Formats: sequence, structure tokens, C-alpha cells
Amino acid sequence: MTEDRTRVSILGATGSIGASTLSVLAYNPEDFEVVSLIAQRNVERLAQIARQTHAALAVVADERQFADLKDRLWGSGVEVAAGRDAVTEAAAREADVVVSAITGYAGLRPTLAAAGTGANLALANKEAMVAAGGLVRQALDQSGGQLIPVDSEHAALFQAVWGQERSAITQLILTASGGPFRSWSKAKIEAATAAQALKHPNWDMGAKVTIDSASMMNKGLELIEAQQIFDVDHERLDVIVHPQSVVHSLVAYNDGGQIAQLGVPDMQTPIAAALRWPRRTRTPVPPLDLAQYGSLTFEPPDRERFPCLPLAEAAMREGGAAPIMLNAANEVAVGAFLDGAFTFGGIPRVVEAVLSQGSGAGQGLATSGKGAPLSLEEITAIDAESRARAQAIVAAMS
Ligand SMILES: NC(=O)c1ccc[n+]([C@@H]2O[C@H](COP(=O)([O-])OP(=O)(O)OC[C@H]3O[C@@H](n4cnc5c(N)ncnc54)[C@H](OP(=O)(O)O)[C@@H]3O)[C@@H](O)[C@H]2O)c1
Repeated sequence: MTEDRTRVSILGATGSIGASTLSVLAYNPEDFEVVSLIAQRNVERLAQIARQTHAALAVVADERQFADLKDRLWGSGVEVAAGRDAVTEAAAREADVVVSAITGYAGLRPTLAAAGTGANLALANKEAMVAAGGLVRQALDQSGGQLIPVDSEHAALFQAVWGQERSAITQLILTASGGPFRSWSKAKIEAATAAQALKHPNWDMGAKVTIDSASMMNKGLELIEAQQIFDVDHERLDVIVHPQSVVHSLVAYNDGGQIAQLGVPDMQTPIAAALRWPRRTRTPVPPLDLAQYGSLTFEPPDRERFPCLPLAEAAMREGGAAPIMLNAANEVAVGAFLDGAFTFGGIPRVVEAVLSQGSGAGQGLATSGKGAPLSLEEITAIDAESRARAQAIVAAMS
């Protein structure tokens, strides 16, 4: 063991970001050791990677899988646990960096637990930041941990603002691939099926984020995520569609210049940048050959064909309860869409219907992102009420 081995925990180790993280670790076997690996229910994969990495601890959120996980790791020396509390405890185990890559709001509590330890937070779980960015930042401020974004756009922005004069920033510009429906008509998009929406042109990702990319809700969530991470006013945030996904985002400065970060679309690159920031970590990702691309193209987003983007932008402007409601309604709508409850056009309809009912549990609590952050209890209540509303709307639609 070398002295400067970095201790890594992975929340969501069996998913797509988990796989990319493990690939970076395997490429640099002398530089890392694995503390906690966490999954929801895929114990077969969890046990396999726990053995491969000699992890200290493997935790499955679904308690019914505990016996199976224990059997699979018998004699391996890997500590085993199950259940929600065990997940939170594992996220808080002493480590140097915690990769937060559980999908959705379910990742919030473990992310907060990790943020409270003083470890660096390599954040992929955008939904936690959308619903509770203020709390995550507060926990990091108190513990001394640093947030290092993994989402490729935010990783690009993070690198493009590093060492620069913050007051000189005029705009953060997030690039969007446009997803599989970029050139489809509005009617065709509305009638699209899950199989069609799951075919992302550039990125190989988990189902939820792939559907969000197709609806451009992903870009909307990322705008709110950027607002939370970089503490900028919504007026300074913009989106540009860039189908090749080579320019991962840009920062504009008051001298007229822009700084961008480029690379082939592979999540190993932003993950590697986050693991030991500001040190770099090697990956097997091939170098970007711009001549091979020949040309890179850009176009404005079409908010009429992709109504999830303006819904998210409106929630970002409103702040307070609205982003929590947006996220909860979207998670329910995407789940229902994947279950075949309706075609693709149903997703923005559910989200819009929930948002149009007003903030309910959040009434009077909205802070426009500027005052003290909502408490975890308040956020939990708004999230639960929004999910209930969304489920009722889904039931009425199906
Ligand atoms: N994939 C990408 O390229 C990408 C890029 C940027 C940002 N992100 C963000 O990163 C996050 C993860 O995305 P992904 O594509 O890696 O998702 P994914 O492939 O669906 O993986 C999700 C992971 O989270 C685990 N999980 C789900 N619910 C859990 C719970 N309640 N408790 C504990 N573990 C739970 C899953 O375990 P099981 O396998 O057992 O279900 C799995 O390990 C999302 O927020 C996404 O928006 C992803």
C-alpha cells in the first residue's frame, strides 16, 4: 500500500456511473482502495465487484437481499450489511472521496451523510442537488469537504472556472446532446415509446437519466444543479444543443472570451477528474481527435418540442419548493412511462399538472434559493406530497 492511496466509496456502485468509476480504479490499481460499495438490490454484481476490489464493506439497500449477499461474500473478508440505515452509515464511513451515484431522490440521505464527513463529494446524483442543494452545500461547508461535480457538464464548468475571477463570469453555458428525438416532430416525440427513448445517441447511461435526456428534463435538472453548485443567478445560465457531445460546457467571461472543456463522451473522464482533484488520474479513454470529427455543430434548444426544459427553467426561477416538486413529479412520470402507462408526451403533462397545483406543503416556505435552505423535513414533506399528486395524475391518465 502506498501512502497516498485514495480511499473511495461508491454510492450506486452497480450502476452505470459505478461501472465507469470501477473501470478508472482498475486502471490505476496502486492509487486507490475501496471502502464502501452500495447498491439497491443487484447483489450478484455487488458481490462480484466487492470481491474484485477487496472492498471493506458492501451494503444492499433492499433488506430482503441480505442473506443472498452474505452467502455470496462468505469468506471474502468483506463486511456485509443491508437496509436504509446501513446505506447511510456506509456513506459516512471514513473515506477520502465518496462518489454519489444513486439515481434519484433516494440518493439524498446517503449523499448528505457523506457530505457531513469531510470527505470530498464526487457528485453524479443530480436529483439530490436539485431537491436539496442548499443542505448538501451546508453539510460540506460544515465538514470541510469539497463538492467536485461528476456530471460531465458541471465537471466541465468546474474546470473552466477553476482559478478564474468569479466576478468576471458572465454566463455558464451547458451543452446538451439533444437526445434521440432532436430532429423529431412534436407529434412523433409525444407518441414515442420507452424503447425509442432509451436509445441515446452518445451516452450509455442508466434508464432514468436516459429518459430525462430524451425529454431534455435532464438539461433542466442540470441547470438547477449548476445554480446550486456554482451559486449563480438563473439569468447567467444557458443551454446550447451540441449533438456530438464533445464540448462538455462553456464559461463566458466579461472580456469576451469563453473557456470550454472537451473530450470524447465517456464518463470515465469527469469521474477521474473528480477522484483526486486537482490531481489528474489516467483513464483508458482515447484522446479526442478533433480532425476525426471534422466539424462540431451547435443550435438553440427547441422549448416547444421539449416542454420539460421550460418547465424546469420556470421551477429554477421560482426556487424554494418548485424544484423539489419538479423533480418528484418527473421521477414518478418517468417511472410510469417506463412501466408503459402512457407515451412520451405524458411525462411533461404529469410534471406540468403537479407544478400547476401550487406548492402545497411548501406554501410560504419558498426562499427563491436565497435565504436559509429548506430543512430536510420540509423537503421530505414537499417531495412526498408531490409524488402523491403525480401518482394520482398518472392513475387518472392510464
Ligand atoms: N450514467 C451516466 O452517464 C450519468 C451521467 C451524469 C449523471 N448521472 C447521474 O448519476 C446518477 C446515477 O446514474 P446511473 O446512470 O449510474 O444510474 P443506474 O445505472 O440506474 O444506477 C443506479 C445505481 O443506484 C443504485 N440505487 C438505486 N436506488 C438505490 C437506493 N434506494 N439505495 C441504494 N442504491 C440505490 C442502483 O443499485 P441496483 O443496481 O441494485 O439497482 C445502482 O447501483 C443519476 O442521478 C444520474 O442522473 C449519470
